Amino acid sequence: MNETNVHLYDRSAPGWKRTEPILLSDFTARPFLLSWCQPIDGKRVLDLGCGEGYFSRQLKQLGAAYVEGVDSAREMIAGASAAEESEPLGIHYRVSDAAEFSGMQDEAFDLVAAVFLFKATSNN
Ligand SMILES: C[S@@+](CC[C@H](N)C(=O)[O-])C[C@H]1O[C@@H](n2cnc3c(N)ncnc32)[C@H](O)[C@@H]1O
Repeated sequence: MNETNVHLYDRSAPGWKRTEPILLSDFTARPFLLSWCQPIDGKRVLDLGCGEGYFSRQLKQLGAAYVEGVDSAREMIAGASAAEESEPLGIHYRVSDAAEFSGMQDEAFDLVAAVFLFKATSNN
């Protein structure tokens, strides 16, 4: 995992926290992607690059049976976990690199989402 990528998202994690649509893409792309995930009812979903959990929460609220959010940035997962702690939805979050994690059972998930799983680059 590129350390710069992790650090950049760790640093910017507080700015991603949201409980309602704020970003332009919350009004445009994410609703469109959410509609692609339908029917979600009862499905087991892996949300790769889940960030602070905005999309994961929507998947669970729409009826997914199980949602696991994975992100390489610890601060993103800390934000997602804090949201889960204050308003529990039963989502499981963990820090891991989407390119490297292993140990998944075949057919453990019905759907894998990777919403704006962008690798950021920075010289700072
Ligand atoms: C643009 S944010 C999008 C977050 C979330 N999916 C959303 O839609 O709000 C991209 C996220 O992908 C994560 N990410 C980038 N590369 C990753 C990788 N190799 N493995 C896991 N997460 C990664 C970043 O840490 C960051 O939280």
